[in-house]
Amino acid sequence: MTERGPVVEAGVEHRFGPYGGQYVPETLMPALAELEVAWVAVRDDAGYKAHLGGLLRDFAGRPTPLYLAERLSELAGREIWLKREDLMHTGSHKLNNALGQALLAKRMGKNRIIAETGAGQHGVATATAAAMFGFECVVYMGEVDVERQALNVFRMRLLGAEVRPVASGSRTLKDAINEALRDWVASVETTHYCLGSVTGPHPYPWMIRELQRVIGDEARGQCRALLGGADPDYVVACVGGGSNAAGTFAGFVDTGARLVGVEPAGGAAVGRGIPGVVHGSLSQLLQDEHGQVLEAHSVSAGLDYPGVGPEHAHLADVGRARYVPAADAEVLDALQLLATTEGIIPALEPAHAVAWVIRAAGTAELPTGSTVLVTMSGRGDKDAEHVMKTVHLATTRQVPARASAR
Ligand SMILES: Cc1ncc(COP(=O)(O)O)c(C=O)c1O
Repeated sequence: MTERGPVVEAGVEHRFGPYGGQYVPETLMPALAELEVAWVAVRDDAGYKAHLGGLLRDFAGRPTPLYLAERLSELAGREIWLKREDLMHTGSHKLNNALGQALLAKRMGKNRIIAETGAGQHGVATATAAAMFGFECVVYMGEVDVERQALNVFRMRLLGAEVRPVASGSRTLKDAINEALRDWVASVETTHYCLGSVTGPHPYPWMIRELQRVIGDEARGQCRALLGGADPDYVVACVGGGSNAAGTFAGFVDTGARLVGVEPAGGAAVGRGIPGVVHGSLSQLLQDEHGQVLEAHSVSAGLDYPGVGPEHAHLADVGRARYVPAADAEVLDALQLLATTEGIIPALEPAHAVAWVIRAAGTAELPTGSTVLVTMSGRGDKDAEHVMKTVHLATTRQVPARASAR
């Protein structure tokens, strides 16, 4: 294992406070160095930005709307605005990052792209970008997730990607990342590893936050237009590795908005973790007293991860963002409440963010009359079958009386 020294170049975010860094096998250091150099070269390059901006607009469907959830707001007594990443092509925010990295890989002369996926959304996004650019594509996915996200496995295969089920460990996201890193060690010459969240060794956490910053930058402008020039009081997003939250927070970190990341209660890496190294960076991590990584649990495959991106660990340490848990049962209730009050079936991941808003709205944690921005990171199509097995629907579900008709 090698660990590179401190930041060498201004403007390059190698670490977030003490977190981040590059804790990887020696064989990966040249690939990470190549990636950092390529990213530094393109991130302010007008040609790259224009090409990516065009793809995000015409292929992916940006800008995504900011939508006032009126009936939910009325129920909660707080103004709840949804940033509709669920309306992106492929169904989640993951395509922002996959397109950015695929375009970078093209510039780096790679012809093969690999990825890991949990919920399948990052796999679908990468397979989509790979199809568009004509790359060979391999996606690693834990066997448990292959089963609970069968629809996304099929979509990836339709898009021409090879899905490799991973049988080791807990057979979920963390094991898929291990396999992808193993593949990359053996194939760095031809292959770009398209990591899906703000995790992994530098430059991934920094690069992916910058690629997801489009969510926060857009939302900030939209909030100012729709809230009479003001920023929201609260900015809320779910946290798995933390890419949709990091991208959203990036747009508001220099405002007075309170930033809230919602973790699954069974995988609260910021809330219950201790510093440790996982997948190439130092961050908060669920581990036992011997430093063994503990299994995370979440009803949502996309949040079922024992670690978190290093920037979130830092934002928590310095008190700029707070991280709160949501339990599976309240997440399933939140999913149904959003569906029945707003006609929006969210993915299980952003249903965590909604669950916290609903819970906090009953308390002084979220004062009456607050304006709340919630990133709706993806839509629920991928989870329909899984939710169907978990949720018993009453034949007539009563929506509380305060949620009156528009
Ligand atoms: C819709 C959706 N939201 C959130 C996540 C969690 O990822 P992140 O924390 O990187 O946004 C996933 C992961 O697959 C997802 O599919």
